[in-house]
Amino acid sequence: MTADRIKELVAQMTLEEKAAMCSGADFWHTEAVERLGIPASMVSDGPHGLRKQEQEGDHLGVNDSIKAVCFPAGCGTAASFNRELIRQMGKTLGNECQAEGVSVILGPAVNIKRSPLCGRNFEYYSEDPLVASEMAGALISGVQSKNVGTSIKHFLANNQETRRMSCDSRVDERTLREIYLAAFEGAVKKAKPWTVMCSYNKINGTYAAQNRQYLTDTLREQWGFDGYVMSDWGAVNSRVEDLKAGLDLEMPGSFGVNDKMIEGAVLSGELDESVLDTAVERILNIVFRYEENRDKTAVFDRDKDHETARRVAEETIVLLKNDGVLPLSEKRKAAFIGKYAKTPRYQGGGSSHINSHKVTSALDAAAGVYDVVYAQGFDDAEDRTDEKLLAEAVEAAKNAEAAVVFAGLPDKFESEGYDRKHMSLPGCQNELIERIAAVQPNTVVVLHNGSPVEMPWIDRVAGVVEAYLGGQAVGGAVCDILFGKVNPSAKLPETFPLKLEDNPSYLSYIGEGDMVEYREGIFVGYRYYDKKKMDVLFPFGYGLSYTTFDYANLTVDKDRLKDTDTLRVTVDVTNTGSMAGKEVVQLYVADRESTVIRPVKELRDFAKVELAPGETKTVAFTLDKRAFAYYSVRIHDWHVETGEFDILIGRSSRDIVLSRTVTVESTVKLPFVYTTDTTLGDVRKDPRALAIVEGMMKSLMPDLEPQQQESDAAKEAMSQEMADSMTEYMPLRGPISFGGHITMADVQALVDRLNALDE
Ligand code: BGC
Repeated sequence: MTADRIKELVAQMTLEEKAAMCSGADFWHTEAVERLGIPASMVSDGPHGLRKQEQEGDHLGVNDSIKAVCFPAGCGTAASFNRELIRQMGKTLGNECQAEGVSVILGPAVNIKRSPLCGRNFEYYSEDPLVASEMAGALISGVQSKNVGTSIKHFLANNQETRRMSCDSRVDERTLREIYLAAFEGAVKKAKPWTVMCSYNKINGTYAAQNRQYLTDTLREQWGFDGYVMSDWGAVNSRVEDLKAGLDLEMPGSFGVNDKMIEGAVLSGELDESVLDTAVERILNIVFRYEENRDKTAVFDRDKDHETARRVAEETIVLLKNDGVLPLSEKRKAAFIGKYAKTPRYQGGGSSHINSHKVTSALDAAAGVYDVVYAQGFDDAEDRTDEKLLAEAVEAAKNAEAAVVFAGLPDKFESEGYDRKHMSLPGCQNELIERIAAVQPNTVVVLHNGSPVEMPWIDRVAGVVEAYLGGQAVGGAVCDILFGKVNPSAKLPETFPLKLEDNPSYLSYIGEGDMVEYREGIFVGYRYYDKKKMDVLFPFGYGLSYTTFDYANLTVDKDRLKDTDTLRVTVDVTNTGSMAGKEVVQLYVADRESTVIRPVKELRDFAKVELAPGETKTVAFTLDKRAFAYYSVRIHDWHVETGEFDILIGRSSRDIVLSRTVTVESTVKLPFVYTTDTTLGDVRKDPRALAIVEGMMKSLMPDLEPQQQESDAAKEAMSQEMADSMTEYMPLRGPISFGGHITMADVQALVDRLNALDE
């Protein structure tokens, strides 16, 4: 329907109808206006499957939803670093939505993994905003290619579950831009989600739902978002203010109470009716975009989609350690130990919880194919060692040629609605792993968890496989990796620190009372660990393969460029092993010298390539200004400082294999404002300014001249360099105290002259 036709429709709606359109008709539907042919439109969770509730709705995954297919959660899909794969997953989800009459799937969820403790980390992608926004963009473009909308969430700075509905995230402007907004920015600009979901929390004192700065200025005016913004379920606190700020649709609604407020505000003149009209237009645009592109032929083929979920899972499993034990030999007996071999933990709790139509465990997948015995090992309902289960498991491990312990976080440890208390696995699982490793040198640990865990046993096991929360087909994928049918190709989208206390947010996470300050600023994840040169358990971008890759011929198409130019980078990657495999090529950029505090390096692009043994492919990247920029709070914009930058190609953030240096020249001059506190050091940076200051000092303080005729002894005591260093931080007003004759008015006149230099 054209924009004009929508406007005409809105013009025919009564005030009551328009106000009602701005909140849910029920838990999952927008309002219908039958007399005008406006249908109700259904939205459903997301993000990694369809949680369509036909009966009673809820936002915590409590009541039943239809049987559906659970794909790997965000933690895993990010680890694939495979945009095309995640786009395919999105297409499958979009088709499911078409088949089920769902207009918008509520996801992806891109909040940054600030701390390993966030209960909802399993739904989120990464500690790095580029990974988050690129993977989200891939999912969005896949879903929307089926004419179904997405709702990128939870906008903004919603990085903990503790007091999630009331806490105030205090984040400085640069950190918001470089880290927390950036996770949304790329996806919003490039993939154009149909809707955005605002979060519950406040950002710097203002509820997300009421935050005009982000909902309108940033989202719409700067990023060009043209869909509708909906609230998270129950995130509306002040309906009229929220509407003015840019919150179009309230979900699930307030049983009409807030609609009445909107009507009252229009009638009293407090709210301009055009604001309401605009919100309704935005909602109807999406309602009709879906309605007019319904695919009535779409079929939700659960078994087929299960296979897609398995293919995705194969690329979300990260091989973290391999002392040569993997792949396991098909001919040798393996003991699968641990409850999650039989009932995998493959998804998290809360609104993303899918009612899976079937689940394949590793034991199911191995049955009849491999020589595998099973022992339960632990009971995840209890955090106590069960001596009988432990003894059986040790016996099974002894009698096999390899042991695979399926460990992970129990549901109660990791869920929407609350945060983790620590970064450990349950004690009984750690004990089990130690005891198995003591009797079986070929012990491999498979982990099911949504974010990092400590691994006190790491030196005593031969292999570690991070399976994340791999969706309902995870068991098949894990078996294929364990036995070498599939070559692992995922990389960590987050750092695994040695211990929780190493994490940069540790000192301020989860805040005090209703306020959480993001005191680590931009130093989130590897940006911090790198800067501090800290040892970590596994670095960002890390993951092993059963083959080996060589990197060569790093080229740049220019050695010098302006910040308005683009830079083309190529690198050759060769599979030097004997098994076909995929490699994630990572490109980081490091600013060699900067006047602002910057991370050592930042991921600026990545690509996944598939290579047969012996095959070489050239991978190409194109970098633009943003790859070199930081966010300047002086100009409220991205800025590149003229200078040298290293282009780094890495297998991981800690394994840089090739580098080239380029010089980037800024085309933007940052305005410099002189004040009476400006130092001589800053004045010396501009010869014009220095000449003025020296000239004025001489004329105002003529008797200073003779003293400056330095004696030989004085010269010996202090070189010019030392003198310059010592006066580096002398403010322009300094001579008032030291030089006599000079007044604040003189200094102010000097400052005015300096500020006029560039006028
Ligand atoms: C969650 C959202 C979810 C919504 C609807 C909220 O509790 O934060 O992610 O989409 O419920 O279930």
